Amino acid sequence: MTREKWSSKTVFILAAVGSAVGLGNVWRFPYLAGQYGGGAFLIPYLIAFVVMATPILILELAIGQRMQQGPVKSLRQMHPAFGGVGLLGVISAFLVVAYYAVVMAWCLLYLLQSFAVAWADDPETYFFGNVLQISDGIGQLGGFNGPVLGALAAIWLMIYFCIWQGPKSVGRVVLYTVPIPVAVLGVLFLRSLFLPGFWAGWQLYLTPVWSAMLSPEVWTAAAAQAFLTLSVAFAIMLTYASYKNPDEDIAKSSWITALSDMAISLFAGFVVFAVLGYMAYEASTTVAEVTASGPGLAFVVFPQALSLMPLPGLFSALFFFMLLTLGIDSAFSLVEPAIATITDMKPEAKSTRVAGWVCLAAFGVGLLYTTRAGLYFLDIIDHFVVSYNAILMALGMALLGGWVFGAEALRRYINEVSDWHVGRWWNIAIKWVVPVVLTILLATQLSTDLRNPYEGYPAWALALGWAAVIVPVGLGLWMVRGQRQSVTTNRDALAESPVADE
Ligand code: PFF
Repeated sequence: MTREKWSSKTVFILAAVGSAVGLGNVWRFPYLAGQYGGGAFLIPYLIAFVVMATPILILELAIGQRMQQGPVKSLRQMHPAFGGVGLLGVISAFLVVAYYAVVMAWCLLYLLQSFAVAWADDPETYFFGNVLQISDGIGQLGGFNGPVLGALAAIWLMIYFCIWQGPKSVGRVVLYTVPIPVAVLGVLFLRSLFLPGFWAGWQLYLTPVWSAMLSPEVWTAAAAQAFLTLSVAFAIMLTYASYKNPDEDIAKSSWITALSDMAISLFAGFVVFAVLGYMAYEASTTVAEVTASGPGLAFVVFPQALSLMPLPGLFSALFFFMLLTLGIDSAFSLVEPAIATITDMKPEAKSTRVAGWVCLAAFGVGLLYTTRAGLYFLDIIDHFVVSYNAILMALGMALLGGWVFGAEALRRYINEVSDWHVGRWWNIAIKWVVPVVLTILLATQLSTDLRNPYEGYPAWALALGWAAVIVPVGLGLWMVRGQRQSVTTNRDALAESPVADE
């Protein structure tokens, strides 16, 4: 059976950019930048982005495109002991999309209420009380929250109809979902330039705080954000690349994707910090005070700022419409690794049906987050999956690509097919920088989490977070166990003639 293909190279790049640019850029990046003091976060983020996340993106695209299989089969074919790393990525992406879709469901509810600016009187009570109807603690599930549940079902229907025909339907959707939110962000940027106080916001955003860079916590958060925003280390880009032809460019596509994603994050930062500067001006307080809001940024601080502007309904609607269109192409890219893995295993299964079951299953897992304690669970799973699973998968891929398979063999393949040349620096990044830095980050994160229970949640709730790490890692190891007999690397056969045997 021939593998499905993107309709053109441009469509692949749009799909990759669409996956990378998502809620991570406009919601997560600015609140992290705010939390860690603006400029203090920016520098570690940019460094992690260039020396670790982008090399891993190049690696993922090379593996997927070369092996022409989903994550599990691709990595297993390179070395039988590494199939489990692929499985870890697939399960992690699935766990992420289960809650990512819930954040999109909140956006949908806000969009529906935008013209009424329903939160104008008290945005905080509106978010926690009206939208989330949050319970007093994680121990009180408090039953399902009807509107969030309904919105989540609507979001999953949208996701399903974007991906039901695989790369064919994805290719049609990204022609709209990539440019539209960027254009809206541009409109919001222009608007923000006319807000009093915007300059104070920018100053905080751009002033480096050198001392903060000594904190390992800032570096872990920056590295995890760099991976998450580029959609690497979740097997997503590997899956997307497996729908390309084996002789297509890799290096140029990787840099276009990486630089667009970085540019949009930085650009979104300007908009958000301008608005925060305006908020501080209105409330006669400092920007630092306003930015310390964490994940509530997009749903409390930002809506409040929007409600203070002239034409609040219009700009609120634009903002939430932008978040939805930004999120949708990232959400469906997070579902693709699971679909590709199942269709690799069962080529006779109808892919529209597989897509349906995967969406339904992710909706099922997401039900937990539609309870009144949903936000607490979301916070825990996000913390563990993003800080451990992504880092472990990146580590596994770097060891496989850099050491077991051989960075030089892969680089030769990349340069043979690419329009741009990848220098030897890439071998160093994959063989040394990524494994060493990630091992240090993993160790510091582990010691922090073992010493201080994350956000003070009870042990039973944190056990769920640990399970989100241990179960997929365990499944990956278990999968590898049965394959020890055939431990030979396929490096020579695969590296010699990368394209001729297809
Ligand atoms: N890169 C996308 C974003 O930043 O929103 C999608 C994404 C991938 C989100 C992986 C979260 C994640 F863990």
